Amino acid sequence: MHTLLSRVNNASAFMSSCMMTLLAAIAISSFFLGSQPTGEVGISPVKVFAAKGRRHYSGKQDAAFVNFNVTADLAPLFHWNTKQLFVSLEAEYTNMHGVQNTVVIWDKIIRRKQDAQLHIEGGKNKYAFREVSTSFKDVSPASYALKYNLMPYVGVLQYGEIARTSDDVPFPEAQAKVAS
Ligand SMILES: *[C@@H]1O[C@H](CO)[C@@H](O)[C@H](O)[C@H]1NC(C)=O
Repeated sequence: MHTLLSRVNNASAFMSSCMMTLLAAIAISSFFLGSQPTGEVGISPVKVFAAKGRRHYSGKQDAAFVNFNVTADLAPLFHWNTKQLFVSLEAEYTNMHGVQNTVVIWDKIIRRKQDAQLHIEGGKNKYAFREVSTSFKDVSPASYALKYNLMPYVGVLQYGEIARTSDDVPFPEAQAKVAS
């Protein structure tokens, strides 16, 4: 009885270590799978509206509005260990207090390889783009980057950058009200 039990124990310990090794092998091998995705990001001149001028926005912070074009081919990131992709467009800039900020202005989840081509023209920021210190005045021009986050079936999340604006985009003087 005793030996039978310890044999079962040994066998299951062996099985689970096999399993662990297999999962580790999948995770490691898929790390080297797939190639670098390609893409381009274009940002139109940004508009900033002063907090007070907009009744619609009750906050005390200026709001920036960004129009963008994004084209990308994310198909290279889809392989058998790709569960889904999280793609985001992020603005990176240094505010007037010298603080480095990264703000997600748009994102998308892609689950299938056939949806991996992005062609967005005249896209708008999906999330409110505000500066915590209330104003974009004297904020350095921002760089905009398209990034991905690959969620695998097995293993750890992988991050990467797909494209970035070649020239930084300045924040203009805040306008009092919405231009038509
Ligand atoms: C976005 O695409 C349109 C159509 O191709 C083009 O006219 C416009 O200049 C592009 N904007 C930017 C910021 O790249």
